[in-house]
Amino acid sequence: MIFNSEKFSDVLIIGGGVIGLSIARELKRRGIAKITILERGNAGQESSFAAAGMLAPNAETEKADKFTEICTKSLSLYTEFAAELIEETGIDIELDKNGTLYLAFTEEDSKEILHRFEWQKRAGLRVEHLSAQETRRAEPFVSPDVRESLFFPSDWQVENRRLLCALRRYCELNQIEILENAGVARLVCEGERVVGAETENDRHYAEKVVIATGAWTSLIKAESFALPQVKPIRGQMISFQTAKRLFNKVIYSRRGYIVPRADGRILVGATVEDVGFDKNTTQIGIEMLRETGLEISPSLGHLEISEKWAGLRPSSIDGLPILGAMPEAENLLVATGHYRNGILLAPLTARIIAGKIAANENSEYLEIFSPRRFRAAGAI
Ligand code: GLY
Repeated sequence: MIFNSEKFSDVLIIGGGVIGLSIARELKRRGIAKITILERGNAGQESSFAAAGMLAPNAETEKADKFTEICTKSLSLYTEFAAELIEETGIDIELDKNGTLYLAFTEEDSKEILHRFEWQKRAGLRVEHLSAQETRRAEPFVSPDVRESLFFPSDWQVENRRLLCALRRYCELNQIEILENAGVARLVCEGERVVGAETENDRHYAEKVVIATGAWTSLIKAESFALPQVKPIRGQMISFQTAKRLFNKVIYSRRGYIVPRADGRILVGATVEDVGFDKNTTQIGIEMLRETGLEISPSLGHLEISEKWAGLRPSSIDGLPILGAMPEAENLLVATGHYRNGILLAPLTARIIAGKIAANENSEYLEIFSPRRFRAAGAI
């Protein structure tokens, strides 16, 4: 095969979503000179863009374990992350610390709330129980049918689309090359090492290669091994536009959530569907989201849907992130499988992966979430 060009970088990052962009930034801050990002479409336009930007370890995790711990630690980096990005790029990512409510409407919901309250208290997470009256005092537009709720003061949100703009801007200002419409089909291997990657027309060489390709990870081929299995799980979303902000906090129920933005948009999410690489919205999905929104707040019934979209969450076999070197090639690192929490986990993932590449720093999370766990299970 004849390639138009052969290019060399210190680190090649495949995938220009929030994970790839955050890793690139962190590598640059640690002194890595030549970083190239290869993106199959447009950087920051897939699941990171489709996301709702919730930074919600209390609402998004189910028990006190290492996953909850990594989520909580990544959340704790966000204040600094947002402040640095404003300083570096002038872009405010709208980190919003108003907290999250988790509502109960049925007896089943109340059981879930009690269970969640108990394990989170035991785990030392910040959680408060609110009566129906207290809930409506906190959010007057919540449905009068609410029975009770939990308040998570440390579950925040960020405007993920602004975060992506900020990360892209950081790359532009710091000579990190982003090549778009540059899908990688194959890694280039020499013995035990991955030396680069091939796009349709070009060959890119690098000392280290990072796979941050989310739902598309398993589509990349290498000669003698397979990358971990990651499959797309569709999330459909809708939004409404209001002239002024109606809700102060992110509001969950067991059936979905609403996310109020500073500019008056109200996002409602999300479906969880195993339908392959199909990013269409469906009538049934949109209806379900409308019902979820109405259950939380009948006030939404007066509003027209202003936008609808879908994204593909990257789900590994066990639903947990995959972080670290591939067993077959120590200079090939993966950072993928972030499933429902890519925006939340971006700052800590970036520190862990960049620390390993730039300074051979170890992290317990590189062991716990290593791709080796699937080899042991015979799944890669
Ligand atoms: N983190 C919310 C979702 O994936 O729908």
